Amino acid sequence: MLWFLFCPRIFPIYYRLLSLSYVGILQSANRTLQAIEVFLPFLSLHFLKQLLSPIGYRVRRGHCHILGKTGAGKSVVLEQLIWNDIENGYGVAVFDPHGQLIEKILHFKLLGISHPRQHFKRVVLLDFESDPPSAFNFLKIPPSKNNEQKSQIISAITPFLIEAFQITLKPEMSDSMRHTLFKVLQAVLHLPKPCLMDVVQLLVRRDQLTTPYQQLLTALPNPMLRHYFQKHYFSNTTERSKEALYSRLSSLFAHQQLEESLRSTDSILDFSKVFSQSQIVLIKASQGRLGEELSRLIGTLVHQLLLGFCFRRHPQEALCHPFFIHMDECHNFMNLKIVKGIAEARKFGMFYTLVRQRLGQEMTKEEDKALRDCNLHIVGKTNYEDAKVMAKELGVKHLERRLLHLRTGQFFMRQGERRCQFIAFPKTFAMPVNQVGKKRHRKYMLNKECQKLQQRLK
Ligand SMILES: Nc1ncnc2c1ncn2[C@@H]1O[C@H](COP(=O)(O)OP(=O)(O)OP(=O)(O)O)[C@@H](O)[C@H]1O
Ligand SMILES: [Mg+2]
Repeated sequence: MLWFLFCPRIFPIYYRLLSLSYVGILQSANRTLQAIEVFLPFLSLHFLKQLLSPIGYRVRRGHCHILGKTGAGKSVVLEQLIWNDIENGYGVAVFDPHGQLIEKILHFKLLGISHPRQHFKRVVLLDFESDPPSAFNFLKIPPSKNNEQKSQIISAITPFLIEAFQITLKPEMSDSMRHTLFKVLQAVLHLPKPCLMDVVQLLVRRDQLTTPYQQLLTALPNPMLRHYFQKHYFSNTTERSKEALYSRLSSLFAHQQLEESLRSTDSILDFSKVFSQSQIVLIKASQGRLGEELSRLIGTLVHQLLLGFCFRRHPQEALCHPFFIHMDECHNFMNLKIVKGIAEARKFGMFYTLVRQRLGQEMTKEEDKALRDCNLHIVGKTNYEDAKVMAKELGVKHLERRLLHLRTGQFFMRQGERRCQFIAFPKTFAMPVNQVGKKRHRKYMLNKECQKLQQRLK
């Protein structure tokens, strides 16, 4: 009578039910732990929570690569990973070229959870789309004890800043322009409150130089730098590259909101706190509002500075405060410095999660290879060529056909040396707003605490 229960056609349904219940159990266990932590805050259930999260912290330490066609559900998986990291108290930076992910994190996730206070304190919203925009002065460096330490920070950070301009300013800078900008940035960083406007103002002829800048150039602590500004900076050969630099940098000020943000001498992003306080950095600079070039510039600048300051971290701090960088549509920000980050940042407690739609998408071969070096691969439905490559990467024979026919929310995942496994994200698991339910969600939206915090973020 019950022969149909063993019919092969029904096996996929069993599988689906099993995966759903598995995820459901994890989810409710995690919630129970959260509730226990609220009532008994002295109990550290961190380890248990990590065990129960779908993808553990240990695995994530080898960087994560998410690949899949448009509509495969990658952003939803990324959202889940971000959420896990926020809940676990890790530092997080989210780069999203379209801004939808950031909106979701701000309006749904943070408001929809049971105890938002502890997480909201850590949020730093870099909003370049609001009026007025957030003050972002990427030249503001953390205070130093003495001049020597300051010079050390300046020489460590300047190459990262130069790289950001090299990658994003179009047309590309020549070698002499790059050299000039390097020296100018080094000089400007010695000002008590430097900002991008100072860089532009220093790129003028000798007779147009105003008194504060003249004083700066004569009082530079580094003798080689002082010598350069006395002997070479105002020569005819440097004048040409200065002019080209001036026109390129001043074009950044064409966008009114960005100008306001870059002109300010203050910055809401304090790199001395980002890592030590495990801050949640949300960068809202979508391509739709700011244009491709500016959005890329801002993303690259923030990433470069994070990488630069991360390399200066103490190993102990790196262990205690892991920091996760999440990049949706990572080809928009991909550059050789991210490749360096994938290779080296792990030792300094910084880990990447990079999402893209296909292999080799607007990337050089080296960048592509670096992504394949990640320890954790999550692959959704792809095109045939990528499926063939990724089947090999995941170490499973004849997987390509299955990769081609995955549905939205279904992925294959390989964590390092472990066997490849199938994961299906039910929508409810991926989006806590639905779990919370409309009534409860509305209750949280009305919560006074949330409203206050939302105002503070504005
Ligand atoms: N697990 C899931 N169950 C059901 N629906 C899902 C699931 N994950 C995502 N979706 C839905 O699929 C659609 C596409 O999801 P998502 O935006 O994550 O795709 P994507 O892979 O990031 O696409 P793109 O590359 O274009 O950004 C969304 O409408 C989302 O609600
Ligand atoms: Mg997406």
